[in-house]
Amino acid sequence: MRNPLGAIRGAVQLLKRELGPDSRFGEYTDVLITEVDRVNRIIEMLLDLARPVQLRPVPLNLHQLLERVAVLNEEGARERGIALVRRYDPSLPPILGDEDRLVQVFHNLVRNALDAMGSSGRLTLSTRVSLNPLFGKMDLGGGQRNMVEAQVADEGAGIPATVRAKIFDPFFTTKDKGLGLGLAICHRILEEHRGAIQVESAEGRGTIVTCFLPIAK
Ligand SMILES: Nc1ncnc2c1ncn2[C@@H]1O[C@H](COP(=O)(O)OP(=O)(O)OP(=O)(O)O)[C@@H](O)[C@H]1O
Ligand SMILES: [Mg+2]
Repeated sequence: MRNPLGAIRGAVQLLKRELGPDSRFGEYTDVLITEVDRVNRIIEMLLDLARPVQLRPVPLNLHQLLERVAVLNEEGARERGIALVRRYDPSLPPILGDEDRLVQVFHNLVRNALDAMGSSGRLTLSTRVSLNPLFGKMDLGGGQRNMVEAQVADEGAGIPATVRAKIFDPFFTTKDKGLGLGLAICHRILEEHRGAIQVESAEGRGTIVTCFLPIAK
């Protein structure tokens, strides 16, 4: 945790202990701790967006990576009546990527998908070798490289045309507690991978977000 915030958090915890478990001020110290944690998360995200990152791309198994994200969200989804569906291409080659940064991408996308859905529906994770005419081959320097697609598809509310143009803008959000940084960060990370991100949405039917990532060789 950032230093001044760490100090505030520590002091509030001491205060909480000093007041004891039956204090009528316990509610306030809890709010302070929760909100300090939230400010810290906001700062971490802003730093992420601002700092020129050193990518460490290595050959990765995309399915293992997606499973890391899936297990984090599966229980929460099930509780809300949402089924997590996998459609992985078993012959998918390894990709070239930075594992932690890509986990962050897919975690943001899955969270958006869950936010967009009510209490039913399917959230589908799928992969394939890309045949997309625009993004199916990219130049990483040293020639053209084939790409794979990883898709996060939901059956949620969809994105209205008026909102569509702004979803990648930092701080654009339609949510009460949103920061509007999720997709800006995803866009940034995919750009660093020399990949791409594409959003297709039908209002009332759902949204498909496709990430294009380079194959490792
Ligand atoms: N799968 C989706 N279905 C419907 N709308 C979406 C979806 N993904 C993104 N959006 C829209 O795009 C906006 C921006 O998304 P983004 O992830 O950048 O920020 P956020 O989710 O609002 O906040 P956070 O910083 O917590 O991610 C959302 O507020 C929402 O309106
Ligand atoms: Mg988001």
